[in-house]
Amino acid sequence: HVSCSVDKPVVIGLAADSGCGKSTFMRRLTSVFGGAAEPPKGGNPDSNTLISDTTTVICLDDYHSLDRNGRKEKGVTALDPRANNFDLMYEQVKAIKEGQAVEKPIYNHVTGLLDPPELITPPKIFVIEGLHPMFDERVRDLLDFSIYLDISDEVKFAWKIQRDMAERGHSLESIKASIEARKPDFDAYIDPQKQYADAVIEVLPTQLIPDDNEGKVLRVKLIMKEGVKHFDPVYLFDEGSSITWVPCGRKLTCSYPGIKFAYGPDTYFGNEVSVLEMDGQFDRLDELIYVESHLSNLSTKFYGEVTQQMLKHADFPGSNNGTGLFQTMIGLKIRDLYEQIVAERAGAPAEAAKV
Ligand code: ADP
Ligand code: G6P
Repeated sequence: HVSCSVDKPVVIGLAADSGCGKSTFMRRLTSVFGGAAEPPKGGNPDSNTLISDTTTVICLDDYHSLDRNGRKEKGVTALDPRANNFDLMYEQVKAIKEGQAVEKPIYNHVTGLLDPPELITPPKIFVIEGLHPMFDERVRDLLDFSIYLDISDEVKFAWKIQRDMAERGHSLESIKASIEARKPDFDAYIDPQKQYADAVIEVLPTQLIPDDNEGKVLRVKLIMKEGVKHFDPVYLFDEGSSITWVPCGRKLTCSYPGIKFAYGPDTYFGNEVSVLEMDGQFDRLDELIYVESHLSNLSTKFYGEVTQQMLKHADFPGSNNGTGLFQTMIGLKIRDLYEQIVAERAGAPAEAAKV
């Protein structure tokens, strides 16, 4: 029966450490699909799930097998596989992918306890975000597309300070200590997942300002795996060539420290990839549309769609730099992938809606 298979969700995995921009990315993604995602209505107010017309995003912290007390007793962090129930994660993601509803546990971030489960019904696009979407091979194999947000230690530190010191009143020392304490498990269990990602967004300190240690201006790389079904990497000027481009000059004036792009083929954990890099930040919209007009394979539906999306969410963190730009571009790529999969299942050739 054709309509059954058409109704089955496309499953996306988004991996990153906590506080690294996953929820911001999710807001950009659901916006590309045309609606803001909201917590489930009438459910547990501490639910971690977000639902829009097309998309349901679940947080994999809900598969913690050890609650906060349990982790403390056993001396394991939330990053440790022993604190997570991968069998249940696999069973439930598989069921959703097959079009069946599940009763998913809720990890309550306020109390640190596991709350009674909530009903999750299969959406069009099902996103699993969290620490371990690509850790378990069985879960990984269910993903139609996967993304890893790779935030360098320097930048992670700058973001944590901004949030935990400014907003939560933590001390510099305690922030340092908590990052240090997580590091061994992060390196062992989280970081290695990036080798499996179809796209990696790597966030580094700028190279445009000598010895910058503020972590405000960022150098961001979008690493796109070659040969992934339904995913055709974005390129700059000439597909497969190596290019550096400074869009600032006679046609466009950029303020200090300017903007610099790079593009080219590379290998990443033994895989062929294309890498697009942006260092610096946008001051004004004309800088962004100028850049957009020089990129190809964007999977936009009309000229300027990337710029329009970025403008729509100018208040989100990273809207003036490569983090917001590349998150938006990946959002459009996921829309394209989704449309291709649906068209394929319906037995019709995918409609080419590319500018
Ligand atoms: P997560 O969902 O992974 O915990 P969030 O999207 O909530 O992360 O982001 C956590 C914090 O990190 C934000 O409040 C912000 O301070 C900072 N942050 C996230 N993304 C960016 C970005 N692209 N640029 C600057 N700061 C960012
Ligand atoms: C969640 C987050 C983790 C965080 C944990 C707090 O699971 O995803 O990144 O570390 O909560 O754990 P704690 O044991 O400090 O309560």
